Amino acid sequence: MKYKKIGDILILDSSYGNDDYLNLSKKHNVKTIMKIGHIQGTKREPVYKILFGSETETINKENGCLFKLDLAKVMWSKGNNNERLRIAKLVEDGETVIDMFAGIGYFSIPIGVHSNAENVYAIEINPNSYHYLCENIKLNRIDNITPILGDCMQVTPQYKADRIVMGYVKTTHHYLKVAIDSLNKGGILHYHETVPEKLMDTRPIERIVAQAGNRDVEILKVNRIKKYAPGVEHVVIDARID
Ligand SMILES: C[S@@+](CC[C@H](N)C(=O)[O-])C[C@H]1O[C@@H](n2cnc3c(N)ncnc32)[C@H](O)[C@@H]1O
Repeated sequence: MKYKKIGDILILDSSYGNDDYLNLSKKHNVKTIMKIGHIQGTKREPVYKILFGSETETINKENGCLFKLDLAKVMWSKGNNNERLRIAKLVEDGETVIDMFAGIGYFSIPIGVHSNAENVYAIEINPNSYHYLCENIKLNRIDNITPILGDCMQVTPQYKADRIVMGYVKTTHHYLKVAIDSLNKGGILHYHETVPEKLMDTRPIERIVAQAGNRDVEILKVNRIKKYAPGVEHVVIDARID
């Protein structure tokens, strides 16, 4: 794929050579054209270049949800769209959910829109992402999400939940113990990891089991989200912890 459209902004991939950006902007009906290199650091901030226009804030519609975001400040992964909806559809009426790495509400917003959760504690460390998380709660008229600006390592232990989403792929396993300790009996964990293909069915599960101590772990699903890098998969493990 040479490009993707996020809201009214066109993102070109690095191989794109066309420099007739005015024409391209008209063809795709966009206000801005950008290239986004890698996503850096714990706060998952994009390294970007603006090729046409100047505005980098947009509203992206996906799965019946509105996501306002600034593509110069926060990331958007199109490849995670099915997973964002899958999780929302799993949430049962009255559940309390913790979204440990909430970002702009990648998972919390679809949960707020598509389920009847009692409450979603959405924890985010990056002030830019937190700003858009709050905006998106308003934009989608959701009243059951509690946005929290902070480090989930410190904040999570203050709550108990029926379901915990760990939608982060850098050192996520360091947060497993804290997550499991906050899960109610029979609660469900959605644990993300980027893992070499051949370890996909073993390493993430072993890490969960190791951190669960003497609590029983039932693996409900190993879901492959996307290829992350050559030979590396982004997977999510659904696990019930008794
Ligand atoms: C960008 S999201 C991952 C993308 C998402 N899974 C999706 O569907 O596109 C990960 C978020 O976790 C946040 N984060 C990283 N470490 C954190 C921590 N210790 N506590 C809370 N949030 C954290 C980052 O700032 C980032 O916004």
